[in-house]
Amino acid sequence: MLKIAVLISGSGSNLKSLIDATNDPAYPVQIACVGADTDAAGLAYAEAAGIPNFIVRPADFASRADWGTAFAEAIRAHDVELVVSAGLMRILPANFVNEFSPALINTHPALLPLYPGAHAVRDALAAGATETGVTVHIIDEGVDTGPVLRQAAVQIAPGEIEADLHERIKQIERPLLAATIRAIAEGEIRLAEVAAAH
Ligand code: GRF
Repeated sequence: MLKIAVLISGSGSNLKSLIDATNDPAYPVQIACVGADTDAAGLAYAEAAGIPNFIVRPADFASRADWGTAFAEAIRAHDVELVVSAGLMRILPANFVNEFSPALINTHPALLPLYPGAHAVRDALAAGATETGVTVHIIDEGVDTGPVLRQAAVQIAPGEIEADLHERIKQIERPLLAATIRAIAEGEIRLAEVAAAH
């Protein structure tokens, strides 16, 4: 069993799909804790599943680095082998990244390196793209710059609005994230080797 932490900020539908995946005893992953930076609605999924969860708010700390230290400590208390940012809408400070990377991954709603940042779906539409998608990648010190682990494409429908496109991306994203974490757990993806080759 690969023990993971899942980090969220919002609705937590990726978290919910991971919780559902772990209900299958053949899925080799245990969610040891869920962490958030704010009152994320998705924490209710952790509560309902009896998964330890916590909020560490940046506003309670003097600096981003101090927040990163406290967030890392809260996660480390759960003895996890992998940290999964699944909708954490905040850039992690360098001290946090250095502590966990390369065992620190993120899911991003675009085909990186296209459309990094917090508005990836909006940016793809604004660029007039006909295709976008989802990327699961290792987090490094840049913003959405780390080594890519898995990607899947989504075609953009003519006239599609951001909310609809994001929801269709998420339908691809949830199983892709679960499959990527499975591949890490089973040794098919070796994070240290991927990071070293980057
Ligand atoms: C996902 O599309 C993720 O890639 C992005 O934010 C969304 C989170 O969705 N960073 P949810 O909270 O898992 O529903």
